Amino acid sequence: MPAVHSVCVLPGDGIGPEVIEPAVAVLKQVAGQAGMDVRLQYESIGGDALDRFGVPLPKSTLLACRASDAVLLGAVGGPKWDSNLPDLRPEKGLLNIRKGLGLYGNLRPVRQIPSLLQCSTLKPEVVDGVDLVVVRELTGGLYFGKPRGIYGANGHEIGMNSMVYHRREIDRIARKAFALARLRRKKVTSVDKANVLEVSRLWRQVVTETHRVFSDVELNHQYVDNCAMQMVLRPAQFDVILTENTFGDILSDIGAVLTGSIGTLPSASIGDGLALYEPVHGSAPDIAGKNLANPIGAIGCVAMMFEMSFGRPDLAARITEAVDAVLDQGYRTRDLLQAGGTEVGTGEFAVRVQEQIAGVAAARSS
Ligand code: IPM
Ligand code: MG
Repeated sequence: MPAVHSVCVLPGDGIGPEVIEPAVAVLKQVAGQAGMDVRLQYESIGGDALDRFGVPLPKSTLLACRASDAVLLGAVGGPKWDSNLPDLRPEKGLLNIRKGLGLYGNLRPVRQIPSLLQCSTLKPEVVDGVDLVVVRELTGGLYFGKPRGIYGANGHEIGMNSMVYHRREIDRIARKAFALARLRRKKVTSVDKANVLEVSRLWRQVVTETHRVFSDVELNHQYVDNCAMQMVLRPAQFDVILTENTFGDILSDIGAVLTGSIGTLPSASIGDGLALYEPVHGSAPDIAGKNLANPIGAIGCVAMMFEMSFGRPDLAARITEAVDAVLDQGYRTRDLLQAGGTEVGTGEFAVRVQEQIAGVAAARSS
């Protein structure tokens, strides 16, 4: 009996469906090679769900995700829904699914791919060797804290959000970061603004306390403004960056600059069970439907899924190596195109990745 894994697929908006289609093709291919039985169920989220069901996260989507072993999400959002009320914005679908599935941590690996060394706007010697993961707290802080809102009389309004963290929220994400560091270079940089914010002082205190049971891991602390600077100054110093929700949102976009294109970055949102995989790039409405989207982030999500949800790091490596090989051969989507490279569209790039994966399997069986 092959192992059965159910995956809920949420293509979403913009370039989401375009990058999810080739990612699913890779998922099926690699699962097939490994004799795994992967069952897919497609559901709606974001603007797509607003158009079809009038809400950004239909109950049926949430239930289908809860019943699955992993979730693969494309992207949400677009200009069509930008003037919607806050609760009826596509982004609310994403925030609600994170909360609804208890996904309190977001892992965003940033790995410099050698053949893309010249693609970053930063100097090659600065980005050379970068291999870090941003561990972002995902269901607390400013995004969810109360009180929030716009209050007061016309002309005298006050806009308000609250950065709130409970000790247990800090402790559980710190544990994830330390455990991950143990599998890597054993170094955690915890990022806060403890020189100004009380919530950050508690963050630093709890992270330091939690560290006691992970004393084989090195821990240092940085203020978020300094960390933003260090990430472009000397990014290779970082192994695991642990930080709260808003800081992590901002710092992980800086991470995207290091690889050359945000299109290459995958992410995993995790809790204590089910995980959701989503490329970092978002819906990119300006290039949607033009066959320009880079599928590497979405394909990287499938690699992370094999490793983290299906316990198959070998299959994850097979996918990552195939992507690297295709880049080495000079094939690029437009975001990564350089002189001498060959421009290919979204699907064409993915087909080359699939050929590479098929070649590896053929070589093994011959
Ligand atoms: C991200 C995105 C989201 C966030 C938006 C789309 C709500 O920027 O995943 O980084 O802010 O978390
Ligand atoms: Mg973001």
